[in-house]
Amino acid sequence: MKIALLGHGIVGSGVTSILEDGKIEGIEVAKILTKRKRDRKDERYTLDFDEIKNDPDIDTVVECMGGETPSYAYVKECLSKGKNVVSANKMLLARHPDLFETAERNGVCLLAEASTAGGIPWIKELGRISRNDEIVSVSGIFNGTCNYILSKIFEEGMSFREALTQAQENGYAESDPSDDLCGYDTRYKLVLSILYAFHKTVPYDKIPARGIEHLSDRAIEYGKQNGCVLKLIGSCFVREEKLQAYVLPCFIRQEDLFAKVNENNNIVNLQSKYLGSLSLIGQGAGSLPTGEAIIQDLLDLREGSAQSVRIAGSGQIDDGPEGVFYVISKAKSLERFIDQRIDEESFLSIRCPLKTILEELREEDFIALTA
Ligand SMILES: NC(=O)c1ccc[n+]([C@@H]2O[C@H](COP(=O)([O-])OP(=O)(O)OC[C@H]3O[C@@H](n4cnc5c(N)ncnc54)[C@H](OP(=O)(O)O)[C@@H]3O)[C@@H](O)[C@H]2O)c1
Repeated sequence: MKIALLGHGIVGSGVTSILEDGKIEGIEVAKILTKRKRDRKDERYTLDFDEIKNDPDIDTVVECMGGETPSYAYVKECLSKGKNVVSANKMLLARHPDLFETAERNGVCLLAEASTAGGIPWIKELGRISRNDEIVSVSGIFNGTCNYILSKIFEEGMSFREALTQAQENGYAESDPSDDLCGYDTRYKLVLSILYAFHKTVPYDKIPARGIEHLSDRAIEYGKQNGCVLKLIGSCFVREEKLQAYVLPCFIRQEDLFAKVNENNNIVNLQSKYLGSLSLIGQGAGSLPTGEAIIQDLLDLREGSAQSVRIAGSGQIDDGPEGVFYVISKAKSLERFIDQRIDEESFLSIRCPLKTILEELREEDFIALTA
């Protein structure tokens, strides 16, 4: 099996390191696309995508460049040329589910194990379980950066600023961490979890998403006083054929399983008719865990057991769940939602649909689902 890598950063180098370990025979990295001449370490490296696209011996391309441009065009061209694609790029796949249809039209596979929950075998298991069982919900702590920051705050008493700086120093957070902190990364992963669990595409921007970027000492104190920690959670459950999906900071009781998942770990959970509740905990990112998820997809392709996700149509997103929300806001328009005032800026809401309260919330406000 001859493969090409598009990009050779954290994930791409994880793939080559595992292959260089030498346990796997018969997967040869024939080409590696790179951006700059100085990154060319041997004759496999190329700056020219056409060399990969037009090489008939390369049957599988691993996309680990990230971003949408030129990744979308490159993946589409590879699929159209009859090459399988393995991608780690959740943003690309969540925004462009048409790529899965391109794969199907061309009789090839587009595989995505590494895109969601990194090294945790989640995506393929959702596909396997949903063949027979009826999955009714998927949820998880999908973002290791936020989880690292939140566990430093709640377990070690750091401030938000200190925890973010430490996450950046340890390489867990980008210099611009907004995709992680604002919940967008979690939302892409939730969209892909929905696709594999329910076989429905959903427009990613229709899922309400709030993050932890405006987390303040006030909210941290509220959590601690009430025996809770805060976690950024993506969740979707099926209610009367509609999908109730959200990405939100959630207060979780200290004794609950999700509260015990700390540092940069992820947890994913599904609830289904036959299995009941199933949770998996592990590394949702990192060079080797993510590289290993890609290798597993490559092995499935080599064995002939790989399958792209089956898409059964588009899913309808409902108004979001009903709940009692913890809110920090000075907006007067939110007064009708107040059930219990905590102090001059924060309150617990009446039980209401998430959508109705989000419509009134300002950018700088903070909201979390209570336990
Ligand atoms: N890091 C993780 O743990 C992890 C986990 C799961 C999924 N992912 C996903 O995997 C993808 C890659 O992430 P990463 O962390 O490996 O990123 P990364 O370290 O930045 O690596 C991406 C590599 O692709 C190269 N690249 C970008 N555009 C290119 C182009 N047009 N032509 C050739 N090379 C190009 C970059 O070169 P330059 O550096 O020169 O720009 C860089 O070397 C992303 O979609 C990410 O969301 C990452």
